[in-house]
Parts: sequence; C-alpha cells; structure tokens
Amino acid sequence: MIEAAGRLYEHNAPAARLYMTTTHFLMTRHLDTQLLHTGSPAFDPDTGVAPVNVPTVRTSTVRFASTDAFAQVMRRRRAGERIPSYGRQGMATHQALQDAIALLEGGSRCFLAPSGVSAISLAFLALVKPGDHVLVPDSVYGPVRKLDRSVLRRLGVEVEYYRPGADASEIRLRDNTRLLYIEAPGSLLFEMQDLPALARLARARGVTVVADNTWGAGYLYRPLALGADISVVAATKYIAGHSDVMMGAVVAADAELAARLDDTHYALGLTVGADEASLALRGMRTLPVRLAQHQRNLEAVLPFLARHPGVARLWCPAWPEDPGHELWRRDCQGANGLLSISLNTTDVMAARRFVDALALFGIGYSWGGYESLVSLVEPADLAAHSAYARSQPVVRLHIGLEHADDLIADLRQAFAAAGLE
Ligand SMILES: Cc1ncc(COP(=O)(O)O)c(C=O)c1O
Repeated sequence: MIEAAGRLYEHNAPAARLYMTTTHFLMTRHLDTQLLHTGSPAFDPDTGVAPVNVPTVRTSTVRFASTDAFAQVMRRRRAGERIPSYGRQGMATHQALQDAIALLEGGSRCFLAPSGVSAISLAFLALVKPGDHVLVPDSVYGPVRKLDRSVLRRLGVEVEYYRPGADASEIRLRDNTRLLYIEAPGSLLFEMQDLPALARLARARGVTVVADNTWGAGYLYRPLALGADISVVAATKYIAGHSDVMMGAVVAADAELAARLDDTHYALGLTVGADEASLALRGMRTLPVRLAQHQRNLEAVLPFLARHPGVARLWCPAWPEDPGHELWRRDCQGANGLLSISLNTTDVMAARRFVDALALFGIGYSWGGYESLVSLVEPADLAAHSAYARSQPVVRLHIGLEHADDLIADLRQAFAAAGLE
C-alpha cells in the first residue's frame, strides 16, 4: 500500500456559498463539493427552472441590443469585466469552465487554449522578450524543446536545461533570467521538483515561475499554493478525462500576470470550441472520483510490478523507494495512474514483445483518460541528467479504471509472452 492513502484528497478552498435553491445555500470549503456545483446555471425567474448542466453555447459572434448596449459592453470590458463581445472570447460554457479551473488551481484567472502545448506556448510568449534567459528542467515534456528550437531561439530567447530534482543551490539565475519553468513530476520518469524552494529563489530575484501541472490536474498538486506564479495544465488529460478533448489552460496567480496573459491570449487569437469546453466541464465534475480510482488501481499494480522479476526499477513518486517520494508526500495530495518501469533486460525486442502482448493497455501517447495506455519510451526523449540505466528499456504505463485484477493479469501475461519472467 502506498502512503498517501490516509490523506487522500483533503482539499480546502476559500469558502464558497453554494445555492441549490434561490433561498437556501450552504457554505463550504470543500473543493470536491465546489467543483460539482461551480457555474451551476441560475434559475429562470419566470419559470423557476434551471438545468443541472451549463448549456453548450455555440456562437461565433455576439449581438448587441443597441449601439448604446454595445458602448456599455465595451466600457465594462475595459474596466475588466468578463462580458463577451465576440465569440472568440467564449460564452457561458467557457466562463463556467474558466471559473472551475481557476478554482481548482487556486488562481485569479484562467485562459483557455486549444491544446496543452498551445497553453504552454501562451505562458512563454506572454512573458519573454529578446535577450531573456529561461530555465527549463531537462525532464520537460518533449514539445517544449520544440518550442525552444522553433520559436524561442528565433526570438532571441535562450533556454537552459537544468537537472530535474535540482535543489535551489544548483540553479543559476542570471541577471537576464525571466522565467523558471517547472514540470513536476517529470513526463517520463516522474522526477519531483522542490517547487517551494525554487519559487523562493526565483521570487527573490523577480523571476516568474511557471509550472506545468498536467500530472496534478490542479487537484493532486497545487503549484500556485506552493509558490508558482502561473500554472499550465493540459486539460486534454485528467480534466477532460475521457480521451475525447484537446485543450489547455493557463491560470495566473495575480492580476498583473493575468493582464499580460490576457493581452497575449488575445493577440494569438486562442480559443476553444463550446463543445470542447462543455466536455471538459463535464470531466471536471468527476475528476476527484476518477483520480481516487486511478490511485487505488495504481496502489494495486505497484507492488505487483515491484516484485516482478521482469522489472528492474519503478519510476513513480508515490512509490516509497522513488527518489522523489519525500517531496511527493510533502507537496502532493495523492497519485494518479502514471508510472514507468525499467525492464530487466537490455533486449529492446523483448520490450517490444511486452508492449505488443498487452491486451488492455492501448499503445499510445497521452494519458489521463479512463483507459489504460502504454508507451515504449525512446531513450533519446529521456533527460540527459536522469539516473537510469540507459541500456534497460523504459515503458510508461497509464493505469486506467479497469478492474485492477484484470490489469495485473494482463501485465503478468505480457511479461510471460516477452520472456521476462
Ligand atoms: C506534461 C504534459 N504537458 C503538456 C502536454 C500537452 O498537452 P496536449 O497534448 O493537449 O497539447 C502533455 C501531453 O502529453 C503532457 O504530458
């Protein structure tokens, strides 16, 4: 049994007043309850009826009742009110989702983008200018390197990669360092970062801290509470939760950063469809229960893998022998379905046989949906700094919501099929 279980998902949010009728309300600080009811549509004053779900408002444009109404909307928008004046800004569905993600992350404002990668790009482009220096962990999600090579370098921004898990004394901030990027845990070997210590260092030098919080989905890990200034999440994964949506979100801790993000978001023309927003919002309602079940299944699978002779090493911060375990216990509220294993072989063909023999684990990128997935990690994609045996193939698993006994049976037969026993 892994250790987080006792304090699984204990979340307090700022107290909110939830109305279930127009006359009765409940004050609650429980994030789980708030997530279920945030954005609930108001009752129709005429009929006294309201739908449970936020309607999916699809529109490319907005009509104004008069030129006077138009002028009023523009004035209120300039004063900071979030009234849509054009479809790209999104309507009620988008706003309900933005509010739910901002609530989850504990931030002041949320911006939606058409994918996790576009959300990451938004955060970078809102902050950097030519001549800036940026620090990124070597374990970073691969396409961030592409953003570096294809865009940031061309704009005269220098990206330096630091050792994942580096403590603050190893981080070299320069006079022109503008942004310290964190992804915890890392994408392939799940290296934890000491976010509070890195954020203290950065804050003292006026460096903005951006965290990719896709692993934590705002629920297992709360970077803004730990000292980050901006949290980015690929809602494609656990937030939407059903492998049917591409979406990203950027959440700012304060109003000044929100204003910068707002400007760049507008300039880049980023928007998401109402159907996607609706699906992501639906996913959020069940995020806590899905994550709890992913963790329960992970807790069942980890000891099986740890004992299996086909496994040389487990990579999962929830596992007590993982180097990031203490940080995970300190900073995370639980685990999800992700882990990697180094196979006990140097034969890549045996690793391929293992992956091919799995029946319930689909071979594919991504994770965070209800289903189990597997990918054979390319050695070139692993951080240069990682302490792993390069000769042993690494396989990443996403433990889905299938019955844990079936997942274990599937893994057992795949090890046997690959001759890894
Ligand atoms: C850690 C992390 N960040 C960001 C992304 C990008 O999300 P998307 O696929 O929605 O662009 C991914 C996708 O795998 C991811 O794993």
